[in-house]
Amino acid sequence: KNRSVSNLRAAVICVLGHVDTGKTKILDKLRRTSVQAGEAGGITQQIGATNVPIENIKEQTKIVRGISQTEFRIPGLLIIDTPGHASFSNLRSRGSSLCDMAILVVDIMHGLEEQTIESLNLLKAKKTPFVVALNKIDRLYDWSTMSRKDVRDIISSQGPNTQNEFQTRTKQVILQFAEQGMNAALFYENPDPKTYVSLVPTSAITGEGMGNLLALLVTNCQSMLAKRLMFSEELQATVLEVKAITGLGTTIDCILVNGRLREGDTVVMATSDGGSIVTQIRSLLMPQPMKELRVKNDYIEHKEVVAAQGVKIAAKDLEKVIAGKILSVESGGVVCSGQPIISGLNILVARSPDEVEICKEEVVKDLARELGRIKLQDRGVLVQASTLGSLEALLEFLKDSKIPYSSVKIGPVVKRDVMKASSMLERENQYGTILAFDVKVERDAQELADQLGVKIFQADIIYHLFDQFTAHREQLK
Ligand code: GTP
Ligand code: MG
Ligand code: NA
Repeated sequence: KNRSVSNLRAAVICVLGHVDTGKTKILDKLRRTSVQAGEAGGITQQIGATNVPIENIKEQTKIVRGISQTEFRIPGLLIIDTPGHASFSNLRSRGSSLCDMAILVVDIMHGLEEQTIESLNLLKAKKTPFVVALNKIDRLYDWSTMSRKDVRDIISSQGPNTQNEFQTRTKQVILQFAEQGMNAALFYENPDPKTYVSLVPTSAITGEGMGNLLALLVTNCQSMLAKRLMFSEELQATVLEVKAITGLGTTIDCILVNGRLREGDTVVMATSDGGSIVTQIRSLLMPQPMKELRVKNDYIEHKEVVAAQGVKIAAKDLEKVIAGKILSVESGGVVCSGQPIISGLNILVARSPDEVEICKEEVVKDLARELGRIKLQDRGVLVQASTLGSLEALLEFLKDSKIPYSSVKIGPVVKRDVMKASSMLERENQYGTILAFDVKVERDAQELADQLGVKIFQADIIYHLFDQFTAHREQLK
């Protein structure tokens, strides 16, 4: 229906790769921001999204050889940043299942590493096309920086030793891809982009290769995915994160892949108690273009948002949401689409109030499957986090470390949580503990905890909570 190549939506691009390969730094260079410097320990622990309009891409690709022949037909890119630490496989999986194309970041000094291969397997499973950013070229021996030039020219102007090291390391990476059953080649030597993955040498510090990376993404999207990128009114939206934000309450960060969302739309989502909520969108908030959705910004309120965009939704009762899909309910009929968005979840669109009930049943059924992964024990610590994604990652880590948990929550620690923890004290001393990741502890809650002997551990890096808890457990012995 009315879909056409003259009306394309922004392409959704996911950045994946092993820890510290420079994923966030690449986005910082692109946006001229410094999100990475603001991260606790320089570690990404949330999934993020940035709207990059085509004007910015045109500006940054001016230095690319032959770019004047390129016609820009997509309105921009929506780029999703993911964490590289092992515990966050949930967010890598969520990001990769949402995207049209991916950037796999490889540190040229380290080659393919454990989470590079994990990411590669996610992309293979979904048959998602991707390009490789062969990052940190500025660390090659005796590298001389020449920004604002095509990276091909920058490489060929390096001294012989530097060029040698570049060739040797690139060959090594190509060999490692071959070991994973994939053909890879430098983008300017690629014999067949359909069967060979392109490697783009980049530096997120000097900005070299960034223009080439953007140009390749745009041309690949337009040549390989034009059909998929035709804008459709059929709503395709998924919850990226659930977050408690001071002043806004619980909000959801959402990726709108197709269709549109309007203020006042009715959304149906699954809740943590296994039920569902029906609520109206109170506000649709977007960061400025080229700003990261996950960083608290001066959000701009919109009456309507058209795909593809990253958008924050504020609405009543969202604190009950844990995983979900968005169902817009309007008058006029019902459309159900079977596009898998979050791994295993389908998105449904109901267009009449009658359908609310049917949709509720659907979300509840889907959620039961998702919740199966969050298995609460009768005895165990209480876990609280600022976002669903970090909560899931923390739980995954606790599971691997054989630390049981009896209760989970997204949001600050209040008195009621302390009461809950104190009932655990009677069962087993060590579990009268709250692990609070990146959330506030209200003062009266802390006072009550001190009175009752409940321990509250707070940290902004999930691994530190584990260290604090293990030290505490040792002490109790
Ligand atoms: P996680 O999200 O925690 O997995 O890491 P990441 O992949 O986002 O990497 P990040 O952007 O946090 O960068 C990791 C470190 O590498 C930082 O100290 C960066 O300054 C550094 N770095 C990133 N890109 C480059 C680069 O191109 N050259 C050099 N020399 N350093 C870089
Ligand atoms: Mg990062
Ligand atoms: Na990092």
